[in-house]
Amino acid sequence: MKLVFALLVAGLSAVAVHSAAVKEQETNVDQTFLNIQTDVLRLLEHVNQPSFYPDFVEIGNSYNISSNSSNYTNQTAVQNFLQYYNYNSFLPRGAVFSVFYREQLQQAIALFRLFYYAKNYETFYRTAVWARQNLNEGLFLYSYTVAVVHRPDTRNIVLPPIYEIYPYYFFPAEVIQQAYIYNQQHGGHANQEVYTITSNFSGYYLNLPREQSLLSYYLEDIGINSYYYFFNVYYPFWLDSEEFGLQNVNRGEQYYFFYQQLLARYYLERLSNGLGEVPYWDTNVPFETPYYPSLEYANGLDFPSRPAFANLYEYFYNYGQSWTTRGVSGYSRLLVNDYERRISDAVDSGYVFSEQGRVSLYSENGRNILGNLIQANPDSPNYRYYGAVWLYASHLLGYSPQPLNSNQVAPSALEQFETALRDPAFYSLYNRVLIPLQRYFINQGPYNRSDLVFPGVEIRNFSSDRLVTYDDPFYANITNAVFHSSQEHEEHDFNVRVQQNRLNNRPFTYRVTVQSERETRAVIRVFLGPRYDEYGRNINISQNRFNFVLLDYFVYELQSGENVISRNSYDSSLYGQDVTSYRDLYRQVLSGSGSQQSFARSRQNYFRFPQRFLLPRGSVQGTPYQFYVIAYPYQPRESQLNQDFRSYFYPYVGKEQFYDSYSLGYPFDRPIVFDQLFYDVPNSYFYETQVYHRENINAVHQD
Ligand SMILES: *[C@@H]1O[C@H](CO)[C@@H](O)[C@H](O)[C@H]1NC(C)=O
Ligand SMILES: *[C@@H]1O[C@H](CO)[C@@H](O)[C@H](O)[C@H]1NC(C)=O
Ligand SMILES: *[C@@H]1O[C@H](CO)[C@@H](O)[C@H](O)[C@H]1NC(C)=O
Ligand SMILES: *[C@@H]1O[C@H](CO)[C@@H](O)[C@H](O)[C@H]1NC(C)=O
Ligand SMILES: *[C@@H]1O[C@H](CO)[C@@H](O)[C@H](O)[C@H]1NC(C)=O
Ligand SMILES: *[C@@H]1O[C@H](CO)[C@@H](O)[C@H](O)[C@H]1NC(C)=O
Ligand SMILES: *[C@@H]1O[C@H](CO)[C@@H](O)[C@H](O)[C@H]1NC(C)=O
Ligand SMILES: *[C@@H]1O[C@H](CO)[C@@H](O)[C@H](O)[C@H]1NC(C)=O
Ligand SMILES: *[C@@H]1O[C@H](CO)[C@@H](O)[C@H](O)[C@H]1NC(C)=O
Repeated sequence: MKLVFALLVAGLSAVAVHSAAVKEQETNVDQTFLNIQTDVLRLLEHVNQPSFYPDFVEIGNSYNISSNSSNYTNQTAVQNFLQYYNYNSFLPRGAVFSVFYREQLQQAIALFRLFYYAKNYETFYRTAVWARQNLNEGLFLYSYTVAVVHRPDTRNIVLPPIYEIYPYYFFPAEVIQQAYIYNQQHGGHANQEVYTITSNFSGYYLNLPREQSLLSYYLEDIGINSYYYFFNVYYPFWLDSEEFGLQNVNRGEQYYFFYQQLLARYYLERLSNGLGEVPYWDTNVPFETPYYPSLEYANGLDFPSRPAFANLYEYFYNYGQSWTTRGVSGYSRLLVNDYERRISDAVDSGYVFSEQGRVSLYSENGRNILGNLIQANPDSPNYRYYGAVWLYASHLLGYSPQPLNSNQVAPSALEQFETALRDPAFYSLYNRVLIPLQRYFINQGPYNRSDLVFPGVEIRNFSSDRLVTYDDPFYANITNAVFHSSQEHEEHDFNVRVQQNRLNNRPFTYRVTVQSERETRAVIRVFLGPRYDEYGRNINISQNRFNFVLLDYFVYELQSGENVISRNSYDSSLYGQDVTSYRDLYRQVLSGSGSQQSFARSRQNYFRFPQRFLLPRGSVQGTPYQFYVIAYPYQPRESQLNQDFRSYFYPYVGKEQFYDSYSLGYPFDRPIVFDQLFYDVPNSYFYETQVYHRENINAVHQD
């Protein structure tokens, strides 16, 4: 599920990442790094209001991009930015920002390019401070974050958690409101205490429909949502891979695998709650699942909600609104249907129409091309013709009203990356978006036995500790949600935090016993999948292969004879700890205590699915799931042959993040001739297990 397949391969030994990292000599970060890290933290504080820091105020008032234009390496980018600025076309402060609206996206790209092409860090910094003080806050936050992650001189920096920078998108309006009330009563009184608000998931106060109410702990988890946001910061759908050095990355394939795994993970969670497959979205009938976000934008505007059985016909959807003058979103249903038809035609005919001619899809690079086509990124062979289904589908299902004009938009939760996963419709939407890809794999024909066996290698046994999940109180600092006065700024006297119960699991170890006839290098993939459907019927693997979640993926040096591979749940490079909080980052910076390695570990966590959600919740009496393990021969990609894997400790642009030359979804991406065959592959193993849920950590230890 990861961008980060990289690291473990240090020397290709099976040493757990953990111990490898510990043994390595920790190196102190230098002062330059600490200064930049401090700048980033200061810039992102209270981003919704102009800063009171005197140095920021000074730069905000005096810096002049036009007269300093020689400090940028791309004059086209500077001129493009200045056009927006001089014509006063930037989104005003206070307005809601969303990259799902074309005019706002263009502004964000212009600002990102200006940041990206700043000649040195000093220029980038001045530009950023100026933009923070003068441009729209959402626009600044987005472009700045993308720039920090992509600029060579800042990509080692650790960003604070997005849910602490912008709490509005992560906590319900009731929580933000309580913070305001507390501030009005207690702010500005040199009060050093930290006030704690207990946050509940939606469904605590509102009588919500079943799916949203049962699954709100998953849909609204701040870690999962922040993971999704960062995937989109790292691989923005509009980023041109040639211009920004991504061209060697299998971006399209990663796109597909990322979403497929999100869908599979959600299905496992549904099973724990007695629900089955995600409802299929048929554009011809009203959309059943309603959504009530309980979220408010910082300017007070509510996130739009969607009623049950929302009618998506254009006539109903646009009733009483202008069709012609307010952009294309009113035509979303038409566009979704047109683009989908063309993509299906490409998949079944085997050819994509590019502007230069036909491109074959059933080729070595085919799944990557198709992924780019479906994401509709600048690497798409033909954006005009195949369009962005997901974009128009998000307008449609989000059920937001058409914008009044390009500066007054009311985006739905689906139209912000920070909140998209909160709406259950997200999963129906991407289920449908990925159908052409599933069809593509089916068209390639089933795997036969020789595609799966690894001669001479046999998995003899598998065992695992008991799998237990529990509710774990978590704290997040939401001080940034409250506007503060210059006095509060100086005294730093106001602190609010949120306490929220989040799922977690007890660490567990599992052991795989592998018999090998010889010394050989193997790739091991470990999956967790469903065992029975929601009615308790046996799962048919061929039909459920898209519901297996990759838990672990590593290279192992098999010895001749018996090998017992022991792995801990913490060893998987695909899952990460919670992102380092504002407070801990500040502490590390001020004390100078962080090492390069500790910052690197913090940074990785952004790109990893939260470890807390490694397991689905399960139930008190136990919910059945199954492990699936497969060992197959290690074959590096051509481009990996002479590379040092250790340098890919975290993802960054232009580096590859996979282990080997097999498809990311192997062996579940293609169908199989006979379901039974899966059980007949000696180098693989199924193991049925149960996941137990306990209310709190004390009960966990009694198990
Ligand atoms: C660049 O901007 C600074 C303000 O930050 C200003 O003092 C300086 O004169 C500008 N440089 C030029 C060459 O105009
Ligand atoms: C920035 O400098 C240009 C000259 O390069 C000048 O025309 C413009 O008025 C200056 N802008 C501000 C806000 O001072
Ligand atoms: C400069 O920026 C423009 C867009 O503003 C972009 O099209 C072009 O590729 C960039 N040039 C270079 C050399 O990066
Ligand atoms: C920006 O350019 C001016 C000259 O145009 C130069 O004096 C100044 O030092 C540069 N600033 C930075 C941060 O490079
Ligand atoms: C969350 O629920 C608890 C009771 O379980 C309640 O005391 C608290 O006020 C609720 N929080 C909010 C923000 O409504
Ligand atoms: C198995 O399928 C592969 C293609 O996936 C093909 O090359 C091979 O010949 C097939 N083997 C058998 C025994 O049918
Ligand atoms: C497999 O491992 C389990 C747990 O260690 C053990 O009880 C069982 O006997 C083993 N089975 C075989 C066939 O070795
Ligand atoms: C699984 O489903 C496939 C496709 O419908 C079918 O051919 C096969 O017989 C099923 N296998 C089992 C064990 O039910
Ligand atoms: C909370 O965040 C604010 C703003 O980033 C910071 O000033 C404050 O020290 C933090 N408080 C705690 C208790 O972490």
